[in-house]
Amino acid sequence: MNKEWWRTAVIYQVYPRSFADGDGDGIGDLPGITSRLDALQELGVDAVWLSPFYTSPQRDGGYDVADYCDVDPLFGTLADFDALLLAAHARDMRVIADIVPNHSSSQHPWFQAALDAAPGGIERGRYLFREGRGIDGTEPPNNWRSHFGGPAWTRATEADGAPGQWYLHLFDTSQPDFDWSNEEVREEFRRILRFWLDRGIDGFRVDVASSLVKAEGLPDLDPELDEDLAPYTGQPGVHEIYRDWRALLDEYEGDRVLVAESWIKPLTRRAEWVRPDEMHQAFNDLFDDWDAPTLRRIIDDTLDAFSAVGAPSTWVASNHDTVRQATRLSLPRSERPNGLGPNSTGIASYDDTLPRARALALLTLSLPGSAYLYQGEELGLPEVSEIPDEARQDPTFFRTEGEQYGRDGCRVPLPWEADAPSYGFGPGEASWLPQPELWGRLARDRQQDVADSTLTLYQDAVALRRSRTLGAGHVEWLPGYPTHVLAFRNGNTTVLVNMGSEPAPLPAGEVLLSSAATSTTSTTSTLDPDTAVWMHA
Ligand code: NOJ
Repeated sequence: MNKEWWRTAVIYQVYPRSFADGDGDGIGDLPGITSRLDALQELGVDAVWLSPFYTSPQRDGGYDVADYCDVDPLFGTLADFDALLLAAHARDMRVIADIVPNHSSSQHPWFQAALDAAPGGIERGRYLFREGRGIDGTEPPNNWRSHFGGPAWTRATEADGAPGQWYLHLFDTSQPDFDWSNEEVREEFRRILRFWLDRGIDGFRVDVASSLVKAEGLPDLDPELDEDLAPYTGQPGVHEIYRDWRALLDEYEGDRVLVAESWIKPLTRRAEWVRPDEMHQAFNDLFDDWDAPTLRRIIDDTLDAFSAVGAPSTWVASNHDTVRQATRLSLPRSERPNGLGPNSTGIASYDDTLPRARALALLTLSLPGSAYLYQGEELGLPEVSEIPDEARQDPTFFRTEGEQYGRDGCRVPLPWEADAPSYGFGPGEASWLPQPELWGRLARDRQQDVADSTLTLYQDAVALRRSRTLGAGHVEWLPGYPTHVLAFRNGNTTVLVNMGSEPAPLPAGEVLLSSAATSTTSTTSTLDPDTAVWMHA
């Protein structure tokens, strides 16, 4: 076993609803994932991160968990999970699960019991119930807002039918926040971690890792202050929880890992999540700006902040919460919401936007540390904006009364076979979000073994990254290039990315890999705009 495998690993995020559907109900599932593991092995990834597959009413794509120790029937059974884990391990791939400790579903038995209990009862003490403010408590207990829009508080109805206490939900109304000052909550999560570790899981991506602990007294948010200083972000007590979890994971063989979903800034603060006795990884800031000096700064700051605590950097270009990179990187900087819709402006044509996504892939995979890929980016999938309102599912759309589009467009079921129903997503036509016609052109079977396809580019990049040990290397910036070109050496590989609008000179030497769809770069002495190359240094 490769010790500390996570320091350099390529980890592939599977969003189970949308990866592959084994039973034809239009929703992806665990047997579907198992049936497609060969494709991930061919891609060359070291591990798979599964977004939640637990029992859930699916009000937030499974991030609303009603039973942390079971599989939702939509996705299969515990036996299907075991089979998936076995099949992944047989291919030398590890599996990381998502754990959602900030909140449960309102359908969780604990929350149902809390609603049935009287104010002040121990059942309520597992969540954050408070009296309202104002006459008859008709105002929420404080001014916090839900990340999905609207207030972060909802008023419960007491057993006698009267309006009662309010409960906190930083996300949807169906996602009540736990009270982590309650030892019973802490113990319950230790039990949940052990349940999956005992089954053989290789680690956890920890959802909303910065927010579990809230400031004493739940004070109002100062609207002038940045979200990073909110009374529910990065409270010092949160680190105690992860030290406890780390000690628990360390009891197990096999280098199990904790990955923080924490976007807290500055990066020096985020690095606190990956100190030697806490988590192993925390995601970097997604590369949003197509601007070489900005990206260079992000790369330097990330490498500095994380190496100062002995942790690897963890590069991510896209995930299930962001507009896909094949669309995002060409949007005007001011128009980068969580999602896009038919009325969104500034979306360039697919063929114009793909080159940046391909170049970004070569950048992400060339950096030292670990890299995460989000399912479908290896096919160059763009964001789908043409989703009719009635098909949308993300709570943001509803909580903002249609004002913001939400994240459905990056969650459209994957295309596997161009000529099959649902593009091979499942055995029939069904697909929980409509798939665009472009999926026929981008389906995996259309890209397999095609020299200039995006899939081939990713396969080649992952393989070269491994053979040239880029994950374990260092960034050494190269002088003498125009400011719109990122130019660095990582070991015996030179990486050049042209983010400007003019071609840049390409030095003499062997081009190992180019993001250009036609490999003109290898025969010319210029690097085109929106193009990256790896060269033998
Ligand atoms: C972050 C997850 O990535 C996102 O999908 C989810 O909606 C929120 N956390 C709430 O759990």
